[in-house]
Amino acid sequence: MKIGLDSIGFYTSRYYLDIEELARARCVDAAKYKVGLGQNRMSVAPPSEDPVTLGANAALQALEGTPREDIAALLFATETSVDQSKAGGIYIHRLLDLPSRCRVVELKQACYGSTAAVQFAVALVAREPSSKVLVVASDISRYGLGSPGEPTQGCGAVAMVVSAKPRLLAIEPEHGVHTEEVMDFWRPNYRQEAVVDGKYSARLYTQVLLETFEQYKRESGRGLGDIQHFCYHLPFSRMAEKAHAALHKAQLGAAPGSKTLQVQIGDTLHYNRQTGNSYSAAIYAGLASLLDRSEQPLEGRRVGFYSYGSGCVGEFFSGVVQPGYRRDLGSAARLEMLSSRNALSIEGYEAMFNYAIPTDGSFLEIPIHDVGRFRLAAIRDHKRIYEAVN
Ligand code: CAA
Repeated sequence: MKIGLDSIGFYTSRYYLDIEELARARCVDAAKYKVGLGQNRMSVAPPSEDPVTLGANAALQALEGTPREDIAALLFATETSVDQSKAGGIYIHRLLDLPSRCRVVELKQACYGSTAAVQFAVALVAREPSSKVLVVASDISRYGLGSPGEPTQGCGAVAMVVSAKPRLLAIEPEHGVHTEEVMDFWRPNYRQEAVVDGKYSARLYTQVLLETFEQYKRESGRGLGDIQHFCYHLPFSRMAEKAHAALHKAQLGAAPGSKTLQVQIGDTLHYNRQTGNSYSAAIYAGLASLLDRSEQPLEGRRVGFYSYGSGCVGEFFSGVVQPGYRRDLGSAARLEMLSSRNALSIEGYEAMFNYAIPTDGSFLEIPIHDVGRFRLAAIRDHKRIYEAVN
């Protein structure tokens, strides 16, 4: 039985900061951010967007054409949760009018949480093949104004319906996985911004890739030549290029040429260059980018996935693109969303970054911004109040 991704939705904030504007403000050569990190724009979440609204908008797309009553579980992956107790997915469950006979839970392991959710969803569907599971990965990445991580900040959400007889991608069972307790990136409960040892995290990302790929190779009997495209976790786009070069060197003794690099990962990077890091969503935003932007039909092609979550857990697995995947893909809406966003000035970005919500339970009405179909409207008595827009 084939199990995998039946549909995909991707959403990011309607506001962005051009990376050249940020470079100017920080007195840094723009080429460092554009070439050295591979970023063009940074999505900035206004106060009325949070991981719940971003996720609900992505889920709305992913659920198009799927009867709500088919959804037996909603797995919400985030590392920028809005509550220490209640799963953010429960708000999404209400906003999307999902059936009450539906399990909802939140999963966290840095940027790896989404892949854990996908693998758990596959297992749930294997037990009950007539059911479908909605996976939503959603995050807002924050490192702090003026920090080395600032140009990699961003936000976004991806939602995927996992089912038997999937229309987009059948997930293969073989995988490599590695867990190790390390402190490369973390965010204590009392902090709004992540603490990160950036260079160390990039080294670990690559080491764990090499280790998990070896495991995958042993288990599947497949090598690099059996995989046509690679979706990497994307903390910034250049990270994928560097990691892919390291994987080629380790497996084949030489780095890939620029044409190979372009064919194997080029199309996975378009969306990340426009949004910045969306943590748990980033790897699957790479998949949406590949499916939407590849000029070559991808039917029958194998895609390798490398998911890395600091702390750390890494996993390498693969999937095969299904015949007719373009039929209900919904690419046009995503392309339109990305091309019709609002540019912010540096002052506008910093004001959104510094916007604080009360922590004493007092009432706050959130200003109106350009958002998708859902918004955070107010905070009252420590409760977040979400509403549908038009
Ligand atoms: N023109 C072109 N390139 C330039 C340049 C210029 N004028 N100036 C610098 N560069 C290049 C550098 O050579 C470097 O490229 P190489 O690594 O290929 O040599 C690149 O730009 C970045 O320069 P630095 O290494 O000097 O940058 P930095 O130290 O200021 O910050 C960073 C880089 C450490 C990645 C920082 O952005 C950071 O801390 N990011 C957050 C952590 C992160 O993204 N880690 C990734 C792995 S962990 C993970 O994946 C989980 C997660 O989501 C966080």
